[in-house]
Amino acid sequence: MAHKTRVGILISGRGSNMASLIAAARDPDYPAEIACVLSDRPQADGLKKAQAEGVPAIAVDHTTFDTREAFEAALDAELKALRVDLIACAGFLRVLSAAFVSRWHDRMVNIHPSLLPAFKGLDTHARALHAGVKIAGCTVHVVRPEVDDGPIIAQAAVPVLTGDTPERLAARVLEAEHRLYPHALKLFLSGRARTAGASLEDTQVPVNQEKALFWPPLEG
Ligand code: GRF
Repeated sequence: MAHKTRVGILISGRGSNMASLIAAARDPDYPAEIACVLSDRPQADGLKKAQAEGVPAIAVDHTTFDTREAFEAALDAELKALRVDLIACAGFLRVLSAAFVSRWHDRMVNIHPSLLPAFKGLDTHARALHAGVKIAGCTVHVVRPEVDDGPIIAQAAVPVLTGDTPERLAARVLEAEHRLYPHALKLFLSGRARTAGASLEDTQVPVNQEKALFWPPLEG
């Protein structure tokens, strides 16, 4: 593939979604290459995993900056130095300023472990269980200044099962996340999903009603 988008992944911790993007980008036909992984926490496990994969892994320790602007300027400088075209947030826990987000307008995506716009923010799985939803899931969206907001690129649904704990549900959703993120990024980078103002123009994905998830399942 001739042109590959240079993606910078932002993480704060474990980095399992990061690993799924790194793995997908190994395919010569994948439209992205992973230019770097940046973490606001030097001790993030994901940094070690990225290094082991031969991806430049850099800590920009947020505690060493006096202001959010200074932290974001340092982040921007690293992204620029590594010629990053698009940011993929993957478990990045810092809220980015509107100024930073607008600099990366339509060039920053995020994964969130709920079917947005439901359950934005933290403790999503506990809140989903408390609300009694039957279907949970995850969303990849284009980042806008409001937290967990922005045009939705793709979603995956998973059932909530009797006896689920937040941990069990999180594990089931995470498996879906690992498949959804590379898929959604590819849709976005190949132009099959593109933003149109506040929303997203459709993706020319063939409709397969059979594959829609009903939970509890349909009978007969
Ligand atoms: C994922 O559930 C992601 O959706 C959320 O934070 C978690 C990060 O997990 N934003 P990992 O670091 O990718 O393993």
